[in-house]
Amino acid sequence: MSELRAVRGMNDIVPPETDRWQALEATVKSVLASYGYREIRLPIVESTQVFSRSIGDTTDIVQKEMYTFTDRNGDSLTLRPEGTAGCIRAVLENGLIQQTVQRLYYCGPMFRHERPQKGRYRQFHQVGVEAIGMAGPDIDAEIILLTARLWRTLGLKNLRLELNTLGAAAEREHYRTELVAYFSAHTSTLDADSQHRLTRNPLRILDSKNPDMKALIADAPPLHACLGEASKGEFAAIQAVLDTAGVIYTINPRLVRGLDYYSKTVFEWITEELGAQGTVCAGGRYDTLVEQMGGRPTPAIGFALGLERLLGLLDIQASRGDCELYVVAAEAAQRPAALALAEDIREAAPTLRTICHCGSESLKTQMKRADRSGAHWALIIGPDELVADAVTLKPLRGQGEQRRIARRELLTDAQRLLHRASE
Ligand code: HAM
Repeated sequence: MSELRAVRGMNDIVPPETDRWQALEATVKSVLASYGYREIRLPIVESTQVFSRSIGDTTDIVQKEMYTFTDRNGDSLTLRPEGTAGCIRAVLENGLIQQTVQRLYYCGPMFRHERPQKGRYRQFHQVGVEAIGMAGPDIDAEIILLTARLWRTLGLKNLRLELNTLGAAAEREHYRTELVAYFSAHTSTLDADSQHRLTRNPLRILDSKNPDMKALIADAPPLHACLGEASKGEFAAIQAVLDTAGVIYTINPRLVRGLDYYSKTVFEWITEELGAQGTVCAGGRYDTLVEQMGGRPTPAIGFALGLERLLGLLDIQASRGDCELYVVAAEAAQRPAALALAEDIREAAPTLRTICHCGSESLKTQMKRADRSGAHWALIIGPDELVADAVTLKPLRGQGEQRRIARRELLTDAQRLLHRASE
């Protein structure tokens, strides 16, 4: 074996893996195009200031994780640890937001000197998405709907959306004062990192993963108490759109994000199936960044997908081979109807995996097979269901009660309905 090896935390991607990367990127790009986003290609290296002035001097990324070097001219340059800062730099430099809003995306490697582990690398890949020039709440809601559509298109399941608002700048300032007062009264419980953050960046203490700080953080005053009517109204409007669209979320008041440029809406999509590195997509609003980087005040919001993590999740879910739905007929007479229902579901919701029981086994045996298939739901058609043009939906994994629903309702919105039913 050659003694020359790839740098720790930086991986080769070789065939046939590259095929999976290309397929993922193509699907993501097609969904982005359907929302009007266009690609921007950016340098991988930027002046260090691009990041220190945007991500924040006191963040882990800027303090500990950047690959910074001096080039032959003596200039301080950095391999990009993320894409938002460089994207805004480019947008300003190329005059892209003078008259119009921009919906942009970029794709490529990012670099952070973190401790490598499964799902965490020193060179990793993101698709980043930035919507520049629009104040919320419509675009905030649309961006989240876009991410939810991505999971549906990719056939990904078991992703949980966490949502929070950090408030406008003045509200955060007020909150900061309250937090400093609270944590200052408990300095003996603060770990070294948090002591350091207390005066420089107290919000980041809320993001501490130290178990000894958990109770103290849980009792910290909530930011929501500092929000004015306008911020509360915007946040409620985003939730209303998500509710109408059937996107399920939880509000996590402790979600603060690891980069300083955020204000108002922040969100993360998390899976439990990837262990500790379960956040596959994260982002939020950054209304002051454009001005901070030398432009006119311009609202903006965006997010980035971690491609290694998405591919990892696709792998896990594909290898498990679970199906979502297992259709059974109570009696032989309903078998044709069961086959027809499964066909209709595949037509209505192609990303759901639907198995229809084939054969003349008893209902009991069919239900056993349904259970063994890993399906989340059994759909049962018996004589009564046939007459009522309905289906009985039985949860197989302990979620909720068995219930009957109209066939039409199932087909109009199979995917959403089944998600809701699992709540
Ligand atoms: P971020 O939360 O730092 O946000 O990263 C976004 C995603 O990139 C994470 O959720 C994760 O999936 C992936 N990621 C981050 N670090 C690593 C790593 N070391 N190894 C593997 N994957 C990783 C941003 O970067 C913001 N620029 C997102 C954004 C865009 N906000 C507004 N616009």
